[in-house]
Amino acid sequence: MKITIEEAKVKKAKPQPGTPLGFGKYFTDHMFLMDWTKENGFENARIVPYGPISMDPASMVLHYAQETFEGMKAYRAKDGRILLFRPEMNAKRFINSNRRLCMAEVPVEDFVEAVRAVVEYEQDWVPSEEGTSLYIRPFMFASEAAVGVHPAASYTFAIILSPVGAYYPQGVNPVKIYVEDEFVRATKGGTGFTKCGGNYASSIAAQVKAEKLGYTQVLWLDGVERKYVEEVGTMNVMFKINNEIITAPCDGTVLPGVTRDSIITLLKEWGYTVREEHLAIDDLMEAAQNGSLEEAFGTGTAAVISPVGELNYKGNIAVINDFKTGALTQKLYDTLTGIQWGNIEDTHGWVHDIAKMK
Ligand code: COI
Repeated sequence: MKITIEEAKVKKAKPQPGTPLGFGKYFTDHMFLMDWTKENGFENARIVPYGPISMDPASMVLHYAQETFEGMKAYRAKDGRILLFRPEMNAKRFINSNRRLCMAEVPVEDFVEAVRAVVEYEQDWVPSEEGTSLYIRPFMFASEAAVGVHPAASYTFAIILSPVGAYYPQGVNPVKIYVEDEFVRATKGGTGFTKCGGNYASSIAAQVKAEKLGYTQVLWLDGVERKYVEEVGTMNVMFKINNEIITAPCDGTVLPGVTRDSIITLLKEWGYTVREEHLAIDDLMEAAQNGSLEEAFGTGTAAVISPVGELNYKGNIAVINDFKTGALTQKLYDTLTGIQWGNIEDTHGWVHDIAKMK
């Protein structure tokens, strides 16, 4: 893939070290764009100044929501190297999302090369303070101007970059989660396993409701019986019950998280039994009441590992581990972030130094 480069004439001031970065507030000077048309396939791979993308008001994404995205991070190691974490997994998930939405599929090697190239070009934007990284947001949308529902004849693939700190204002401290029993996120046969904008659009009503009640995010139940635990707003979720780990299986309604997969791998290596099973919310609340629910935590690229300190289900409150970060949760956080930032040896081939990826 040949990538052309147009340098921005004016560069933005980068956030000074010490500035709280928050999440998704700052964007770098350049972005990656590539077009796809039915006639020519992918073409015009380019790094261009970051800025508005002009689109026809009839662009199909604006009407029928053909849009998919990914979330990844670039990490600056202490020795200055810039590291990506399992980028090919994001590339494969992007293909699965796009296939479900009948959108163009970016080959794995082109996706990874586009990410590498734009991160390398913007490498001065990768922050170095502890807990910070450069969030990478690849996405695709239907750009054909047409009214009528069908697979679009043209798409735009883009990558934007944002220096970030912690996703939650709480940082790595426990969050309060509201168990949503009215709205649903996904049902079998739907788009629950994809990362499409529509999944998040329909989740906002529940998020607003949870926030009004003082909760950070919602825990989704299955869309048919509203009985089984699935995932939390922006992360997969795992429960440690009687020293075993239980998390929902990826059988169509749950996002197959890169962090989820990495954590399951680490847990199994450490000798834990990990059960990818449907867990009834009643059994979870019962485990919380009788003390067998030892820890709960979310996993996600943005959220990393996020301890869950409280669940509210139909007004019943379960406080987990005295609202403290559990020992296993902390060990997982330290190990995963240690690998991602290059401080712990990567024995899995997960971490890629962008300087060696060409
Ligand atoms: C991620 O974890 O990267 C996500 O995409 C979640 C989100 C910020 C919607």
